[in-house]
Amino acid sequence: MIPAETVDQIMNAAVIEEVVGDYVELKKSGSALRGLSPFTNEKTPSFYVLPAKGIFKCFSSQKGGSLVTFLMEIEKVSYPEALRMLAKRYNIEIVEKERTPEEIAAATAKESLGNVVAWAQKWFTDQMRNTDAGKAIGRSYFVERGFRDDVLDAFLIGYSPDTWDALATAGQEAGYSAEKLVEAGLCKQREDGSLWDFFKGRVMFPIRDVTGRVIGFGGRTLSTEKKVAKYFNSPESPLYNKSKVLYGMHLAKPEIVKEERCFLVEGYTDVMAMHQAGVRNVVASSGTALTPGQIQLIRRFTKNVTVIFDGDAAGIRASLRGIDLLLAEGMAVKVVLLPDGDDPDTYAKKVGSDALNKAIHDDAQDFLEFKARLLADEAGSDPLKRADMVRSVVTSIAAIPDAIQRSVYLQTSASQLGLSEDVLGAEVAKTLHAAAMAEQKRSVQQAARGPQPQGPPPEYDPGMPPPEAMAEQVVVDPRTLVEDDLIRALLEYATDTVSVTLEADTDGEEAEVLEVPFAELVIHRLEEEGIQMRQPMNQTLVQRFSAELDHERILTPEQLTQDQDQDVQQKVAGAMIQQHVLSPNWSERHKIYPVVEKDQLTDLLEGSLRRLHLWDLKKASAEVSAQLQGADLPVDTERDLLAQKVEIDAQIRQTLAHFGTVILP
Ligand code: CTP
Ligand code: MN
Repeated sequence: MIPAETVDQIMNAAVIEEVVGDYVELKKSGSALRGLSPFTNEKTPSFYVLPAKGIFKCFSSQKGGSLVTFLMEIEKVSYPEALRMLAKRYNIEIVEKERTPEEIAAATAKESLGNVVAWAQKWFTDQMRNTDAGKAIGRSYFVERGFRDDVLDAFLIGYSPDTWDALATAGQEAGYSAEKLVEAGLCKQREDGSLWDFFKGRVMFPIRDVTGRVIGFGGRTLSTEKKVAKYFNSPESPLYNKSKVLYGMHLAKPEIVKEERCFLVEGYTDVMAMHQAGVRNVVASSGTALTPGQIQLIRRFTKNVTVIFDGDAAGIRASLRGIDLLLAEGMAVKVVLLPDGDDPDTYAKKVGSDALNKAIHDDAQDFLEFKARLLADEAGSDPLKRADMVRSVVTSIAAIPDAIQRSVYLQTSASQLGLSEDVLGAEVAKTLHAAAMAEQKRSVQQAARGPQPQGPPPEYDPGMPPPEAMAEQVVVDPRTLVEDDLIRALLEYATDTVSVTLEADTDGEEAEVLEVPFAELVIHRLEEEGIQMRQPMNQTLVQRFSAELDHERILTPEQLTQDQDQDVQQKVAGAMIQQHVLSPNWSERHKIYPVVEKDQLTDLLEGSLRRLHLWDLKKASAEVSAQLQGADLPVDTERDLLAQKVEIDAQIRQTLAHFGTVILP
């Protein structure tokens, strides 16, 4: 258990935009910050952070709430884990209360894996820096390759001693079970149950997630023996999802945002060598083809990618498909081709920082031009190969989401391939058409599976024609819209005071004007009128306010964004962000009408109450009517029902009279 005071301390220290900024490139948008949702694949930003309120809201996934909720969602961690991450980041020490056996058992597999991996990284690094073998074998290997100590430190490089069980022993002494060491991929188990070190005798490259946490390792052999695998890598685990990780991203991130470009290389040592040469916006796919998850990771920070190829033709061909994926994500892709036989590491060391910088910036070519030229050279005059090549270029062009960009590429590629623009254009159109058909089919199937969450819901404005008139456009139950409107005003103006007049009573007390917080008035009036919210979320919110009022306190929306119920957090964050960031333009387009002015609060409240009351009466009236339709009603029952209906309808007319000029059907 983390003590409540420590939780407060963490929440006060944590800066939401700093932490969220690790995952999302945020730009200023009014009093809010805006970016692309890290939870979905959206192309237009609908993810908001309100620094002043410490909340976020993502309209494409509907997630929202406090910073802790954000971390829980994005890192898939528990509440205490999220707090611990923040504590670590802001150097706040957590002195935990005694944990119960259940709490210990509840610590997730991910958390304990994270602990053992973090421990192992420190151990490997310590071995390299502070043991004779580590210095003589591990560190000197890197020194020979020209790596500086500060770079080895930045990448947390380590050494795994060349003995069978040094790590297994140290790990168990440090309190990690054999089972965990095996699960983390650090040790293997023999038939007799004893452990041996999987990475024995290798130099260790810790793999870190975007926040810098170590999640796995690549271990490079120092042997030149061809039969020995050059790298061993940690297995996939709940902690380490290879397809979503890019080596070096944690260090590259701020530079990528600053430079508005990400360099993509193949290997661990390439990243380190470029970093050493002063190019820090660089990440590696770790020798595998680029995955959509990795592309999304880059896309959080920039749309501009430069892929650095070593001059090996087979390697380039294998990478082309991954690069089409980059185009499909709307990225602007450039290519740098290094001289044959060089990779970024050898090249950087051969030519030095300045020449490397010049090469990767000035000599970068547009990817499609590069691809067309490469394939044209390869195909020569072989007609079959040329047809293949055209198809391949067409696929790339068709993948570009932006029509204007596509047509520019069409022109340049046509001339490079020696084809007419019309012919190439027709091929691209064919491919696009096929893709559109496939997409249509998919969305029909998706629609059949039910609705997907979308942007903010349309809202009902009390100044608009009565709900019936909107019923066709609005699928939501109109009573819900009135409820939502009232709740939104409640959230926005909870602590603002409104004036209420207490009428003179028979005991001779005089009429009195009271100033009360709006929340108090709302709760009081709802109780007085006996009106209930129907939407479970609205019910919950009313209960929250009501419970606080019992203690003579007014709840603030800020408190609610920290609510134990995540749905409450989401709802409140959504309401708050809407108030702050929705420009008139935006609300117009999305058919969201501005909420009331503050001085109309009591009118809004009374209007809403009457409307809610009306809906309830109408429902009751309809129910009675339905019963009256029933066959063979006993005469008595029929008379009772009719009397009820007359009574309800009278009340309806009475309530309607309050609406004044609004004409109801
Ligand atoms: N790789 C791997 N397993 C292998 C070989 C390679 O996982 N058996 C991955 C590693 O992530 C490696 C990348 O592919 O970094 C690129 O491979 P390579 O160019 O061979 O390695 P370098 O990192 O360049 O290593 P070095 O410069 O030390 O030879
Ligand atoms: Mn290399």
